[in-house]
Amino acid sequence: MKNRKIKEILKRKNKNPIICLTAYSKTIAEILDKYCDIVLVGDSLGMVLYGMKSTREVTLDMIINHAKSVKKGISKSVLVIDMPYKTYRNKKEAYKNAKKIIKSTKCDALKLEGGKKIIKVVKYLIKKNIPIMGHVGLLPQSEKGKFKFKGKSSVERKRIIEDARLLSNAGVFAIVIECVEESLAKIISKSIPVPTIGIGASKYCDGQILVTDDLLGLSNFTPKFIRKYSNIRKIISKSVLRFKHDVINKNFPSSKNIY
Ligand code: KIV
Repeated sequence: MKNRKIKEILKRKNKNPIICLTAYSKTIAEILDKYCDIVLVGDSLGMVLYGMKSTREVTLDMIINHAKSVKKGISKSVLVIDMPYKTYRNKKEAYKNAKKIIKSTKCDALKLEGGKKIIKVVKYLIKKNIPIMGHVGLLPQSEKGKFKFKGKSSVERKRIIEDARLLSNAGVFAIVIECVEESLAKIISKSIPVPTIGIGASKYCDGQILVTDDLLGLSNFTPKFIRKYSNIRKIISKSVLRFKHDVINKNFPSSKNIY
């Protein structure tokens, strides 16, 4: 049984764009909740927050801890959590870990990377009433080297289209399409009935997602699909420098800051 918020997302196919962003903490989640339809606790947190080389190092406990924090800041958005690498290799493992994430975080849904290779697991979780978000195109958990956009060859394009079709038929409520050519994102979005959420995948998707740290200019990551809406690094740097000067010059604490 899908919850009401998830049914609302399904109804947004070809309607007003779905707004999604990532959050790893309560503070950011509180701000995003007002504007977003979906907040994702992505395993990108491994690279963005922990400085890991890939998302493969993220553990179940790490994602659960961050998701618990995020949940405290969410009141209206759909809360989706990434299942980390090697936590859904077969039906039994996936169900056990999915139940653990849901029980400890009270999230609305889980996201798994892949299509044909994981379709039996996806179908099984959906049969067990766990709402699933799909993820096709560039799959960070499967990448060994540098992240490159997908869909260059016709074989790869066909595989990605097939992955999206299988996930849609399996009953996922939305599919993230990551880093593919615009024409491929358009074909997928037009050919399946579930909403597509793009990241580096064009305006033809039914919604867009970005890593919040990238949008804010907090990370140093600048591929072309990101638009930086502010430069938080600069703001933090300036504030810290002012604090440093105030301390050196004995301007802080002032009479207002003492007991
Ligand atoms: O891990 C993540 O943040 C994601 C988004 C980039 C889609 O999967």
